[in-house]
Amino acid sequence: MRIILCENYDELSEKAAGIVASQVMLKPDCVLGLATGSTPVGMYNKLAEMYKNGEIDFSQVRSFNLDEYYPIKKDNDQSYYTFMRENLFSKINIDPNNTHIPNGETDNPKAECENYEKMIKQSGGVDLQILGIGQNGHIGFNEPDASLNSYTHLTKLTENTINANSRFFNSYDEVPKQALTMGISTILSAKKIILLASGASKSTVVAELLNDAINTSVPATMLKTHPDVILICDRDAYMGTKLGIDIGGTNIKFAVVEGDCVKYKSSVKTERTCEGIIEAIAKEANSIKEQFNIKKVGVGTPGIIKNGMVTSVNLPFENTNLEKLLKERLGLPVTVDNDANCAALGEIEFGTTKECDNIVLVSLGTGVGGGIIMNRQICHGNNNMGEIGHIIIQTEGGRKCPCGLCGCWEQYASATALIKDAQAAALENKESVLYGLMEKNSSRLDGKLIFEALDQGCETAKAVFDKYIFYLASGIESLVNIFGPDAVVLAGGVTKQGDKLLAPLKEKLRGNIRIEISELQSDAGALGAAML
Ligand code: F6R
Repeated sequence: MRIILCENYDELSEKAAGIVASQVMLKPDCVLGLATGSTPVGMYNKLAEMYKNGEIDFSQVRSFNLDEYYPIKKDNDQSYYTFMRENLFSKINIDPNNTHIPNGETDNPKAECENYEKMIKQSGGVDLQILGIGQNGHIGFNEPDASLNSYTHLTKLTENTINANSRFFNSYDEVPKQALTMGISTILSAKKIILLASGASKSTVVAELLNDAINTSVPATMLKTHPDVILICDRDAYMGTKLGIDIGGTNIKFAVVEGDCVKYKSSVKTERTCEGIIEAIAKEANSIKEQFNIKKVGVGTPGIIKNGMVTSVNLPFENTNLEKLLKERLGLPVTVDNDANCAALGEIEFGTTKECDNIVLVSLGTGVGGGIIMNRQICHGNNNMGEIGHIIIQTEGGRKCPCGLCGCWEQYASATALIKDAQAAALENKESVLYGLMEKNSSRLDGKLIFEALDQGCETAKAVFDKYIFYLASGIESLVNIFGPDAVVLAGGVTKQGDKLLAPLKEKLRGNIRIEISELQSDAGALGAAML
């Protein structure tokens, strides 16, 4: 089974319509097997649009629908007869005589089914079968059962299907309890099959379809016996509800994400030992698991990750197999990545740069951290790519960095560097506002006081800040030259100053570099981890 993974429902509809259109172009009198339900509606709309634009001609196409409720009048609003007319047939030039739907009005369902099967065979068989998938794994109305029916037949709908389909009727009672449906062999005799799955409600069954062996409790697994099936699904159906965990030095943050919707956020304190951290994560994550149907877990952690082993100077991890330890405690698939990478992913998925494909995240804190996203994917390089704080901006007499090099960017552009430089300048200019503020604050400076001094027109603070902006701009220019991102996103405590930082920085930067201040800030890591 091939898989086409789409970003969203619109892309899924476009891809599916493209395949149908190719089929019709290659064989204008082809036989299409059609499905109803909410999933193919977008695809039908795209096909109608293509027809309207003169791109596709349905005049010779023949069609057989998968199924119809039984009993049901053709003119019932909810009959598949009405559905096909409204969603496709009335919008394209298909000949109504060439369209076939099992007759839900028949008083002899057995004869209707036999005749339907015969007509499909006489047509030369279905060239391209379109399928949706029920939450219980049904295809057509072949419901989970100990054994499955081969050919077109009358079947009882399960409670699950009646419930799922009651959204189209006024009440559960109005949903017909039976249906006429192509059988599994009828479906499998199609030359080519595309199976569409959209939305988080399908994620469990898509996972079963992909992971389980062929079995009659998930009828869609029968498709694995067919040589030409394409599953076209969007990310929600493929990934379902996800839990993101961001392990920080002080707090561990949790975020539950479904599609592009953040369902829940929480945080717990970071313990000092590895066991303590695992225990705290397991406790919170398992309680989240009880509330949400979590399908996978992503974890962001500081440090270098090599073959799944984490080593971090800030946390008690040394060659720690975090993935394995958490998988054992949570009973779910776990993916681990560097926390800055996760934050960058969070920014492109949920932040102000959502519409970009390429961004660089620059986090200005104790050091300068970052993550690089190209084509919406994290760039890993050889495990520790993204250590942007260690690009060298000063070659001669550069400041010494604990990494062993001199002149690293973070020695100039981190919040720590700004404070250090301001402290030194204040001590050299004891008459300055900056020095006065520092003295009032027990001889200590912080970022806020530097901006307060700037607000009061302090020349000493301004000289330090101008230099800081110069350093910041130098590194950003380099990143832009190397990666050519659509935007650079800045995060970290200093960026809380907003325009006071952004305006002078923009002035200093050459060209048209788009710079944004993160709106997600420390939430980005857990959100991005969920999307790993
Ligand atoms: C419809 C059909 C069903 C649906 C399935 C998914 O002709 O045979 O198998 O494809 O129930 O329905 P939606 O797309 O509404 O989730």
